[in-house]
Amino acid sequence: MDRSLSQLSKLACCEPGEVSAFWPWSVTRGEEGELRFGNFSASDLLSQFGSPLYVLDEDDFFGRATVWVSAMAESFWEGYGMSGATVSYATKAFASGYAIKLALDAGLSLDTATAGELGLALRAGAVGAQLGLHGNNKSDAELELAISHDVAHIYVDSLEEVERLSHVSARLGKRANVMVRVTTGVHAGGHDFIATAHEDQKFGLSLASGQAEQAARSAAANEHLNFLGLHCHIGSQILSPSAFLESALRLLKLRSVLLESGVEVPELNFGGGYGVRYLPSDPLPLSPAEFAPRLAQTIREYCLSRQESVPHVLIEPGRSIVGPAGVTLYQVGSIKEVPLEDGTTRTYVSVDGGMSDNLRPALYGASYTALLANRVSREPLRLSRVVGKHCESGDIVVRDVALPADLQRGDILAVPVTGAYGSSMASNYNLVPRPAVVGVGAGQVRLHIRRESEEDLWARDLLVSEK
Ligand code: LLP
Repeated sequence: MDRSLSQLSKLACCEPGEVSAFWPWSVTRGEEGELRFGNFSASDLLSQFGSPLYVLDEDDFFGRATVWVSAMAESFWEGYGMSGATVSYATKAFASGYAIKLALDAGLSLDTATAGELGLALRAGAVGAQLGLHGNNKSDAELELAISHDVAHIYVDSLEEVERLSHVSARLGKRANVMVRVTTGVHAGGHDFIATAHEDQKFGLSLASGQAEQAARSAAANEHLNFLGLHCHIGSQILSPSAFLESALRLLKLRSVLLESGVEVPELNFGGGYGVRYLPSDPLPLSPAEFAPRLAQTIREYCLSRQESVPHVLIEPGRSIVGPAGVTLYQVGSIKEVPLEDGTTRTYVSVDGGMSDNLRPALYGASYTALLANRVSREPLRLSRVVGKHCESGDIVVRDVALPADLQRGDILAVPVTGAYGSSMASNYNLVPRPAVVGVGAGQVRLHIRRESEEDLWARDLLVSEK
């Protein structure tokens, strides 16, 4: 349902000197009315790096990462009955060499899901001990890459994979470090496509059917494998702690069953999925400082009551670290008043990107907001829809937003909270080049990923690339 203009106008923020906490840390409105990222105005960034542009606030990213690391370290210390915790950044949310370096500097490990993500992490300086590999269909080459680099955690996703891991390990003369991904049956998360722990979907091994236990036993009994523990990931964009805690208890119960029969389970990984605010009016998400002690208390109470050791705990946040740290800048192109059935009109504002740089609105119906970034306008606000340049009517960037009536071609719009699953799910639909990613931080700007050129797009086409 459309939201009213008065509701929407509350979302439009920012007089000179004022910016809400909803935006990344380095964002301010300069005296001249332009949105600034640290020392750089939106228009400077676009003239230097092209439009559209993903801007990653590196200080914000680093800050969010260290907040998770310290919250988990405070709640899960090492020694005196506790075995510590690891925060592993889900690189699928956003990966660039510099972002990976920042994540490592902040004390994060890295969660990868393909040879592409794993290879990038290794090239950016990560070592096996800092890495995990997921995937419901890992190739032999992916397993080999992980095992040969002594990746700390390989997450088994099927019974068949236990055997394959064993063969590859034996061939390489190594012992693969293995966790079993468990489908705990807890349904959580925003859109159905991003809920991952209910029965009847492709990830993991089900708890209810006994397959998860079977895989754990077979991995633990295998001389070529080093069985470390159990993993679950219940979905994404989850805002309340209860589903995480319920899933944690289910994993702990399976651990108890294994411990009782003499199988050691030193580690548990509870995955990612911590939600963020996409609109300033969204409820505040779970903070690490709130969540980590609750998770620790649940685990400690359970283990103490059963006189079990407390496992080493891992989590894998992606979106909650990088999502709010990213903003996409677009340039406004055509503006149209489209008559509606009720006699009113809707302003359609077309920008120079769209579903190729942010698939989330088309894929999940995800909501975003947008802000005029290159100046402040005193004109009245109009109910507007920001759309992309692709050949689909579902190519929507922001469904409903209040934008000034004097918005014109060439203006810049800033769309916040696009740091996660924006660049990483970008495509070349309509042969549109993917935008650059720049990082701003510590008073500097640096190019993380250069903008694609049309030549890049054509390079793989054998008829035209050889001309
Ligand atoms: N761990 C595992 C095993 C995962 O599969 C995922 C996300 C994460 C961690 C990180 O989840 P996060 O903390 O970022 O929510 N493309 C979707 C989300 C799909 C996420 C898939 N797995 C989106 O744009 O919302």
